[in-house]
Amino acid sequence: MRQAGRFLPEYRELRAKHSMLEAIRTPELATEITLQPLRRFDLDAGIIFADILTPLIGMGINIDFVQGEGPKIFNPIKSSADIQKLRLPPPEENVGYTLAAIKMVSGELTPKGIPLIGFSGAPFTLSCYLLEEESPSTAPDVKRFMLQERAAWETLQQKLARLVADYLVAQAESGASALQLFDSWVGALAPAEFEVFVAPHLRAILQQVKSRTEAPVVYFGTGTNGLLPLIADLGYDVVGIDWRISLADAARLLPTDIPVQGNLDPLLLANASPAYLEGRVRDVLRERTAFKHHVFNLGHGIVPHTPPDNVTRVLEIVHSER
Ligand code: CP3
Repeated sequence: MRQAGRFLPEYRELRAKHSMLEAIRTPELATEITLQPLRRFDLDAGIIFADILTPLIGMGINIDFVQGEGPKIFNPIKSSADIQKLRLPPPEENVGYTLAAIKMVSGELTPKGIPLIGFSGAPFTLSCYLLEEESPSTAPDVKRFMLQERAAWETLQQKLARLVADYLVAQAESGASALQLFDSWVGALAPAEFEVFVAPHLRAILQQVKSRTEAPVVYFGTGTNGLLPLIADLGYDVVGIDWRISLADAARLLPTDIPVQGNLDPLLLANASPAYLEGRVRDVLRERTAFKHHVFNLGHGIVPHTPPDNVTRVLEIVHSER
């Protein structure tokens, strides 16, 4: 996640010359940024350089990435009339630049046997950016809208689910070998609301994607400890686990034959001493044996002050146990 981000000097150099949106919308630049971490590190997969918010642009949402502040939406949704107006252009028209970048990157990586991950934001997390004035991660405005504007909420979720499913399928058709759905802020919900207001749309996306491609689909959320049994029940191929729970404890909440991904704390990767970091990586590698299948990863996105050497070291430790 955001692996090509600001922790790499070669990324910062490129971004000094191009805005975030320009980098995403220029397939040659997006290709170069996607390949940067793969040149530097012995990684097992790449993730396409894009952002979960870019497909919203074609719906009629004006977004930008403000230096030092993160993403900004200039026309957030205020009413059900705003939801009616959201357009659903086909992915080729909306995000053709990312599909072109996926074709270019997979052309480079496939001969080397390195898979490329395509991704999308999930409807709930996208709604957090579309509706939230306060805080995407705790989502007070989203919950108010969800509870008070039930019909409009359903329309919004259905539109987003359609956008997301079509986008994921188009990425697989362009060369992505796995797909990841980012539901970064879903942990704001209690299990009951997750089940009623969110889960049906996650099932609809999976059903759509599975009927049209064979690519495995990862569901990733954070703060999801209380939701894990419900997430397992959605039927996704891989479930992301954040660092707030040990994999050993997660194995008591999930069927152990579900492949899991995670779960080193990104702030450990950024800040721990080499010896402490090594011990914690080995903890994850030991605890993962509670599951049949495990993909080593961070529990959330890499942070900008992460020393690149820590990444190299963690990969050495993980690969030494392959
Ligand atoms: O590693 C990669 O480059 C993969 C591409 C990728 C980006 N964003 C590029 C990016 C991916 C997979 C994402 C996902 C994303 N974007 C999520 C879901 C995953 C997660 O981390 O929770 C979310 C919630 C977003 C929305 C978003 N975009 C935020 C919150 C921010 C600001 C981040 C910050 O810490 O300030 C972004 C900007 C962003 N997206 C950057 C990158 C490389 C940093 C842009 C920069 O300043 O150069």
